[in-house]
Amino acid sequence: MNGSFVSFEGIDGAGKSTHIEGLRNAFAVKGRVVTVTREPGGTPLAESLRSLVLNDSMDAMTEALLVFAARRDHIVRVIRPALERGEVVLCDRFTDATFAYQGGGRGFDWEVLSQLEQWVQGAEVLLQPQLTIWFDLPPGVAAARLASARVPDRFEAQPQAFFEQVAAGYLRRFHADSERFARIQADQAPELVWAEVLAAVRQKGLLS
Ligand code: TMP
Repeated sequence: MNGSFVSFEGIDGAGKSTHIEGLRNAFAVKGRVVTVTREPGGTPLAESLRSLVLNDSMDAMTEALLVFAARRDHIVRVIRPALERGEVVLCDRFTDATFAYQGGGRGFDWEVLSQLEQWVQGAEVLLQPQLTIWFDLPPGVAAARLASARVPDRFEAQPQAFFEQVAAGYLRRFHADSERFARIQADQAPELVWAEVLAAVRQKGLLS
């Protein structure tokens, strides 16, 4: 696969969307075909699963299985084909979110998540983004941002303590594979965050 795969992570309220759009334009200017997509979601089936995960109550294992089922469909129908065509895939959240939210936030077994990751993303090689941009935001700042937001979903409605655990989950993933990550302090002015996003993508040789 000779495409470029970038994922974007962070707790709710970290402000990913503007920068994803910025990168879409930056790649398009270079003549690249860009797919901007998200998880859970990105296909009709996965979007249906997203709606269940965000709105219906369920236990942690069901939640983990549904996000991985959505991911499988997304990989098979959208991500792998696009990468095989040499395109750019910008994915708003990927598996690190499962480790952070279901592993960190819900306390679901990290080892089981690792096995599901192998199953769902592995064939001969494990499919992972070449670069994961982690918008690292203190949970207190995120909580203040979310307080003024629209009607919260099942995750956004969680207390700050949940997001502290989610943030700890991201940190654990970061330490396990820090080469893949660009960790960006997301409580800076947006133009400073954007400069770091661009620098991270260029440093990986993805926008040259
Ligand atoms: P979004 O609002 O940033 O699109 O993300 C949807 C929510 O789904 C967000 O609160 C994080 C959560 N989520 C999980 O719990 N596990 C996952 O694997 C993914 C991808 C997202």
